[in-house]
Amino acid sequence: HDYDLLVVGSANADLVIGVERRPGAGETVLGSDLAVHPGGKGANQAAAAARLGARTALLARVGDDVYGRLLLSSQHAAGVDTVGVLVGGAPTGVALITVDPSGDNSIVVSPGANARLAPEDVAAAGSLLCAARVVSAQLEIPVETVAEVVRNLAPEVRFTLNPSPPAPLPAELLHACDPLIVNEHEARVLLGPRAPADGGPEDWARALLRLGPRSVVITLGAAGALVVEGSAPGSAREPVRVPSVPVKAVDTTGAGDAFAAALAFRLSTGDDLPTAAAFAARVGAVTVTRHGAQESFPTAAEVAEPDTVAQG
Ligand code: RIB
Ligand code: NA
Repeated sequence: HDYDLLVVGSANADLVIGVERRPGAGETVLGSDLAVHPGGKGANQAAAAARLGARTALLARVGDDVYGRLLLSSQHAAGVDTVGVLVGGAPTGVALITVDPSGDNSIVVSPGANARLAPEDVAAAGSLLCAARVVSAQLEIPVETVAEVVRNLAPEVRFTLNPSPPAPLPAELLHACDPLIVNEHEARVLLGPRAPADGGPEDWARALLRLGPRSVVITLGAAGALVVEGSAPGSAREPVRVPSVPVKAVDTTGAGDAFAAALAFRLSTGDDLPTAAAFAARVGAVTVTRHGAQESFPTAAEVAEPDTVAQG
C-alpha cells in the first residue's frame, strides 16, 4: 500500500471571528479581527493524520481561487499527497465560524466546490482508492459520492465514517463503516425515533450498532469515548470506555476531525479499536488547547503518553 490513509472529503477556508456571545436573529454583535485558516473536515483529517506521521492522500475538490491555493499549500505543508485534489467547478468551500470564550464554535458552511465532488470523480480516482489501508470520509461532500467510495473499495481496505454534518445514511454505507464515529448530536440524528428514550451512552452505542455498522465509536467530550464492535445479532461485545484527557479548551474547531484521523491512522498500523480510540482522544485533547483547526494538530511527539496526561 502506498498510503496508510486516504481521506475523501471537504476542504474549506475557515473565516473565524471570536465573539463574547452569538447574535440572535436580527441582532448585530462586534467580534475580534478576522482570521482565515485552512479547514474543512476532509482537509483537516488529512492534515491531522499526516502531522502524526501517516502516509496520507486526500481526494477532494477546491475552487480555482485564492482559498483553493491556501488549502493546497497547507496540505503540502502537512505532508499530504494532493494528487487526488481536483480544482475548479465552483468557488472553494467556506466555513463562517464564531468561537466563544469557552472555546465552543458555531459553523455555517457554504459547500461550493465540495458539493461538486461527484461519484464520477471517485470512479476516476480508481487506483487511489486501492492504494490505502484505510479510507475515511465525512459528510461535507454529497452522500452519493461517499456511497460510491464504499462501492469501489477492495475488501481488505477498512472504511471509517464520521457522518458530520449528520444526514440519513443508505444501508450500504452504514454496513461499510468500521467504525462509524459520532458525537452525541450525530448519534441522536442517525437514530431518530430509534434513540433509547432514557439510558446511557452504552445503550446509544448498542442502538447504533443495530443500524448495521461493523463497529461504533461515540465521542463524549469531557467524558471520553465509547467503543463497541460486532454487528452480527447476539455477537456484540460489551461497550468499552475510553478515558478523556482533562484540558483547558480554547478552540474546539477541528477536534473531531483530529480524533477521526488519529483513529483511522492507528487502525491502519494494526491497533485494535479501543487502543486506537484512546490515542485519538489524546490527539483531540491537544487540538482543543490551540486555536484554529489544522494549525492546532499535534505531531506524534506532542501527544502525551497515557501515564503523563494527568499533569496536562
Ligand atoms: O470540523 C471543523 C470544520 O468544520 C472546520 O474546519 C470547518 O471548515 C467545517 O467544515
Ligand atoms: Na483547535
